[in-house]
Amino acid sequence: MNQFKFVLALIVLVTFSNCRENPAEPTGTVTDKAMVVSAREEASKIGSDIMKNGGNAFDAMVGTQLALAVAYPRAGNISGGGFMVYRKVNGEIGSLDFREKAPKSAHRNMYLDSLGNVIPNMSTLGATSVSVPGSVAGIIEVHKKFGKLPLKDIFEPVIAMAEHGIEVTAKQAEMLDNYREVFIKVNSDSTKFSSVYKEGELIKYPKLAKTLRTIAEKGRDGFYKGEVAQKLAGFIQANGGFVTEEDLASYEVVWRQPIVFKYKDLNIISMSPPSSGGVTMNQIFKMIEPYDIASFGHNSEKTIQLFTEASRRAYADRNYYLGDPDFVEIPLDILLKDSYMEDRMSDFSFEKATKSDDISHGEVAIIESMETTHYSIVDAEGNAVSVTTTLNGNFGSKLYSDELGFFLNNEMDDFSAKAGVPNMFGLIGADANSIEAEKRMLSSMTPTIVERDGKLWMVVGTPGGSTIITAVAQTILNGYEFNMSMQDAVNAPRFHHQWLPDMVIFEPDGFSPTLKDELKSKGYIINEERTPIIGKVDAIRVLSNGTLEGGADKRGDDAAVGF
Ligand code: GLY
Repeated sequence: MNQFKFVLALIVLVTFSNCRENPAEPTGTVTDKAMVVSAREEASKIGSDIMKNGGNAFDAMVGTQLALAVAYPRAGNISGGGFMVYRKVNGEIGSLDFREKAPKSAHRNMYLDSLGNVIPNMSTLGATSVSVPGSVAGIIEVHKKFGKLPLKDIFEPVIAMAEHGIEVTAKQAEMLDNYREVFIKVNSDSTKFSSVYKEGELIKYPKLAKTLRTIAEKGRDGFYKGEVAQKLAGFIQANGGFVTEEDLASYEVVWRQPIVFKYKDLNIISMSPPSSGGVTMNQIFKMIEPYDIASFGHNSEKTIQLFTEASRRAYADRNYYLGDPDFVEIPLDILLKDSYMEDRMSDFSFEKATKSDDISHGEVAIIESMETTHYSIVDAEGNAVSVTTTLNGNFGSKLYSDELGFFLNNEMDDFSAKAGVPNMFGLIGADANSIEAEKRMLSSMTPTIVERDGKLWMVVGTPGGSTIITAVAQTILNGYEFNMSMQDAVNAPRFHHQWLPDMVIFEPDGFSPTLKDELKSKGYIINEERTPIIGKVDAIRVLSNGTLEGGADKRGDDAAVGF
């Protein structure tokens, strides 16, 4: 090494070790003890107030999940499912799978016509797309295991909000407007959401309040058995769907071992299958770990290349191998082995793009909806909860029970209806994610908790369908490698590649035409159409003095609230 190169290397080393020793000043909301970051300020406040009143992060999870069903009905829900990763103040970690399940009558070819073709809309729109919900069982289980406050005290502020009404935001008014025609088509012109709701108006949910009261009184049986279950199953079937009272009564959540891996001095804890989030993110991080990505620069050409090539390889494995572990053998010991991932990257070069066709298992592809929601919670004791929950599509199946007061999921579309045919998100699935009775559909949801030097450092997650995994990984890298504050790490422009379709998607702002031209010249296919936003990350960073910085995504109405 000549003298110049040596001095340069020293400067880079000192700069980056300084970065790690001098973490970025916060630019988001900072609180002393506890915080909730979610898609709506009203929901974050309910969660935060629960903790102020003596509840812990798990009580706040129950309240926030319910509050989002009122305040953010496009994804917040009691009739969808999700995943929760937790880390208690004593370092104990775990995760809960409250993912929806296929009904007992479901089978491999249920969405195919007599010629074996996928029947358009059947797995995405209306009652035929509805799966057995897991959210109520999820929150009741969490409360039973870890909760401190009585269930009724947690439900009460949410019921009050549903009865009093919640203000429509500008973004929500636009969203409801965009979907009105389809709400009418799937339901009728007398459905609640056939009405026009303007910004600033209150929407009241008296029927949802009544359903919530029943759950508060009877626990999970208030949803999965009795009057609510009868009405719910009857409504789904009257509209041509498959979920029965028996399906509801037999739904069970599963406590699972989270995926845990090291990235430099971080310890990353994320969701295991049937979510692909933890496994795919583990692969991406391990494939980029040998490179000094910090020295390449944030969103630089080399950083984008490295991250894209790791994602391409990880998503190819995701689509082929992953599914519900209660139904399929997943070779995790091989997929997560350092030597396997080293081998996967052995043909990577900064000189030119790899072609997705040259990556194995190219005969299969999967699609998923962008519409999910995530919330992050830290309580005053230091317990942390990371939850991603979904109806799948925006407002799920669009089927709305006017009697019970909520939208129903269209999660059946997260199965691979037919191997090789992309789902809503363009993801191409294989046999591992084929439909079977009572199976859970593969997910991309990636609720994550990160420890740094053995201590709680970040709670993070996002909606975004297949883009969830790359958005969460980029947010962690932004904070760790590029030394951004939590809010800046969340707001930074994002990009995505998922093996198939073989294209890099960039958010509309933040990537220069020159950068894209450079990548094109190396063989990268750039999505030139109007690109969507990628994810809406809600995260919390623990600062070195123990205070909390929220990262509430500027892309939505998201807000951090705490004390
Ligand atoms: N429905 C989106 C997901 O589970 O990843």
